[in-house]
Amino acid sequence: MSASAPIGIFDSGIGGLTVAKAVKDLLPNEQIIYFGDTLHLPYGEKSASSICRYATEISAFLKSKNCKAVLVACNSASSVALDVVRDTLDNETILLNVIDPLTDYVKSNFKNNTVGVIGTKATINSNVYQDKLKEHCQVKALSTPLLAPMIEEGFINNKISSTIIEEYLNNPVLEGIKALLLGCTHYPMIHNEIDRIYENSVTVLNSNTWIALELKKQLTLIDKLADRQEKLDEFYVSDKTDSFERSTRFFFGQAVKLKEVKLI
Ligand code: DGL
Repeated sequence: MSASAPIGIFDSGIGGLTVAKAVKDLLPNEQIIYFGDTLHLPYGEKSASSICRYATEISAFLKSKNCKAVLVACNSASSVALDVVRDTLDNETILLNVIDPLTDYVKSNFKNNTVGVIGTKATINSNVYQDKLKEHCQVKALSTPLLAPMIEEGFINNKISSTIIEEYLNNPVLEGIKALLLGCTHYPMIHNEIDRIYENSVTVLNSNTWIALELKKQLTLIDKLADRQEKLDEFYVSDKTDSFERSTRFFFGQAVKLKEVKLI
């Protein structure tokens, strides 16, 4: 596998674009192949076995594109489908998820504190954050299932979004937290709104910077950092939607060519 091989990134929809953006900002020479499984969105409402099925198909697609690394840019899939993704890829392909970089940061920076985590039902019910952090902090977890579809529909920074977000953050489960982990890759798009509601009394964290740094570290270790981008980034969806096209343009500031691929 050459250093110019692409980085595969996938999510159920636009959430993983926040990860793709962080990767491009840190590693502008890398070619990205993005897959948004818009046909099966939201993953957070699906069973673990369905998410595993979708993730297997997408990983096989990214493998067929000869990706040197695959980023599972979805907490729901990272919670329940990492093993099947690993089994689908070659051993030499780097595999990263969005949960470990964030929990590693929290373990060392919020030791013995109370932290909150919000995410989809699939993520919160899997207990993955609670299990990874339980020996280091007290974890208060809340599923916030309306947020990803709300963001996917473009409801950001308006009355509807602030009412829904505020309602969730006022849930007594989250009382007394020192930090809030955004356990869904859609949520960085409402990071500012959450900060505003908390008036900066709670530290709000997402994993995007950490996952990009981890990717850089691992590519450096195996001497596979690209020194220039040879091919354009590619964006695929399983169901072409206007909102995805809009968001991709918003994130990457250019007219991206969106291709539809039906996998299952
Ligand atoms: N962005 C995803 C996550 O991080 C999934 C949202 C959804 O499809 O429900 O969990």
